Order: sequence, then structure tokens, then C-alpha cells
Amino acid sequence: MKKEEIENILKKYNYDKSFIIGILQDLQAKENYLSKENLEYLSRELNISQGELYHLATFYKAFSLKPRGKHIFNVCLGTACHVRGGANIKEKLERDLGIKAGETTPDKQFTLETVNCLGCCAQGPVVVLDEEYHGEMNTAKVNKILKNIKDKKREVKVGETQN
Ligand code: FES
Repeated sequence: MKKEEIENILKKYNYDKSFIIGILQDLQAKENYLSKENLEYLSRELNISQGELYHLATFYKAFSLKPRGKHIFNVCLGTACHVRGGANIKEKLERDLGIKAGETTPDKQFTLETVNCLGCCAQGPVVVLDEEYHGEMNTAKVNKILKNIKDKKREVKVGETQN
């Protein structure tokens, strides 16, 4: 991330460290994770210890210290989803994306994560893609979701060449 982008975020919050959660959220939104360099920069500019920043970054589940993909799959492996085939869905995504759960594809397009219950067990197995819930998942639905993402990318590329 360019220095000006961080500066713009800090200006938006008037360099006020009492807005640190908002600042971290904006940083996270830009890159999908909080990099070591950016946290060091914030620490210097806002006079907050790095320890405190790391504490916040690890306390809130919304933050990640590891690079994450543009699209984030969360596969539920809670008991209800597990008995309905959640593990098969996870394995299918691992094969199709070429990564293991907890990893991000080298092109930073996808991150695959697992969760233990999303609170909608009756719809299991459940997968959340970029905060959108997909219930009663099966391999055909996974194929459809992946195809939709690829089609959208193609549409964006065509749009880009038209401009
Ligand atoms: S176990 Fe998957 S939503 Fe509850």
C-alpha cells in the first residue's frame, strides 16, 4: 500500500488514535489484511505501541495479519454441517483452488477458511463467500459459484478494454 493511502486514512480520522479500530478497519479493507509495515507505520504516526496494535489485530476476528484473498470462502465444519458433508465441500474447494484450508492462492484471489458454526445449522452444509451465505451446499453448487466468479472477472476485463 502506498504511503499516501495510509496518510489519507489517518487524515480522515484526524490522526486521532481513539479511532484506531476504524483506522484498522479501513486499512484492512484496502488490502484484506494488516501488514507488518503498515502496523509499524501506524505505531509511529499515532504513538501507539506495536504490542497494542497486535493485540487489537488479533483480538478482533475481522482483522487478519496474514495476506488474504480478494474472495474469502468460509466452510462450516460444525457438527450439523459436518454430518451433512461439510468436509467434502472443504476438500472440493481445496482441490479446485489448489490450496489447503487456512491458505491463500498465490495470485491472492482466494482464501479458504473454516468455521465451527455459523448459526444456521438447518441449512447445512453452509459456505460463506464474501459474507454471502450459501446453504445446502454440494459439489455442483461449488462449481456454479466458482464459475460465477470467473464469469464476473471476464465481464470486468471486457469492460476494462472498452474504456
Ligand atoms: S454447524 Fe454449520 S451452521 Fe451450525
